[in-house]
Amino acid sequence: MRQSRHTISFDLIDPARHPDPDACEAWRTLRAEHPVAWCEPDGGRPGFWVLSRHQDITAIYRDTARLSSQQGNMLSTLLTGGDAAGGLMLVVTDPPRHTEIRRILQTGFSARAMAHISESVRSATRNLMGAAVRAGGCDFATDVAAQIPLIAICELLAVPTDDRPAMLELTMTAMGADGSPESAEAASAAQGDILDYYSDLLEERRRAPGGDIVSLLATQTIDGKPLTDAEVLLNCYNIIIGGDETTRLSSAGAALAFIEHPDQWKRLKDDRGLLDTAIEEVLRWTTPATHIGRTATADVTIRGCEIKAGDIVTVWNVSANRDEEIFPDAYRFDISRTPNRHLTLGQGPHFCMGGALARVELRMLLDELRTQVEELESAGPVERMKSSFLTGVSSLPVRLR
Ligand code: HEM
Repeated sequence: MRQSRHTISFDLIDPARHPDPDACEAWRTLRAEHPVAWCEPDGGRPGFWVLSRHQDITAIYRDTARLSSQQGNMLSTLLTGGDAAGGLMLVVTDPPRHTEIRRILQTGFSARAMAHISESVRSATRNLMGAAVRAGGCDFATDVAAQIPLIAICELLAVPTDDRPAMLELTMTAMGADGSPESAEAASAAQGDILDYYSDLLEERRRAPGGDIVSLLATQTIDGKPLTDAEVLLNCYNIIIGGDETTRLSSAGAALAFIEHPDQWKRLKDDRGLLDTAIEEVLRWTTPATHIGRTATADVTIRGCEIKAGDIVTVWNVSANRDEEIFPDAYRFDISRTPNRHLTLGQGPHFCMGGALARVELRMLLDELRTQVEELESAGPVERMKSSFLTGVSSLPVRLR
């Protein structure tokens, strides 16, 4: 049966007015009453569909034949004319090119590569946590959670050890824009410097390739042709932007979740056997990427609503991960939850390439937390990210004993 279009009444674009996924009745109501809703065009920007149910969102993720990523995969680019990296950078490229680039990157994320990187991640996490415990506390978001993903990414791209401090600094600046014009300018300059750096690294890896991701991108071919420099650089950049802030937000969110749920903290400390399910619950609970976007390339009908070719479709992971139909007692943080079919890392052909790495980082973090820390307490106000795409804590002062 054809459904009339329900227009949503809350703001999904302005980060300052973004609904808090946990406090928000709005998502519950949408899931129950209007799982396929519409956000009206406004002031020159186009309208877009808003999907909130796990089942529908899974179907959209899997349907690359009728839903394209090439115009962009988040609202900020989809509403402003599309992503300039479309067709070049993996996450905003459609099959068949997407499948080929993904095949090249796959070796860089193999179990062997992960085992090697785990060692660096473990020792870095141990040292950072040790220093924080000795100091009696820290800002968990900036002093611990923010440091580890960059170390993992430098391993993945085999950034030479001497260059790492500068690269960490640049990446922090590139990702650290807080909305002020000065920080936006600094971020843009740092992004340029990062691309220049990888451009030099690319030349080196063409001359002397290794098994790392830059070397794979520099030397592998698709239909007998090498990737262009722009493709190589943008895909290095994809790894940095895909793997940095997201994992940081999950790690900082994990610490906050345990502070807010002392019963679950006790369970984690008492039982190392809960690590696997705890990692999945942290991923579900924190859901750093609020939404993902697509553009319909053919007409699609979902629950009687007619999505037309050319329409922008957004799927809300923050809502899917609290869908009562899939997760019993969905608003409860339960580190033994199983099954746990969260959509934090997406689904289908674009499923997160760094999922295994994110899990390695969380495993080391939770393991070091439970062994090195006896008491974990809040030591000041928590600050939250201001973004319509990413959600989580950007500052988390803690006392550690
Ligand atoms: C908790 C941490 C992470 C979260 C929440 C996350 C989330 C996601 C999501 C939702 C997608 C799907 C995008 C789409 O369908 O359009 C994705 C794709 C991707 N992620 Fe992650 N990610 C995380 C960690 C990482 C890490 C550590 C890396 C690499 C170092 C990474 C690299 C990528 C790449 C390359 C893609 C594109 C895959 C493709 O298009 O085939 N991510 N991620």
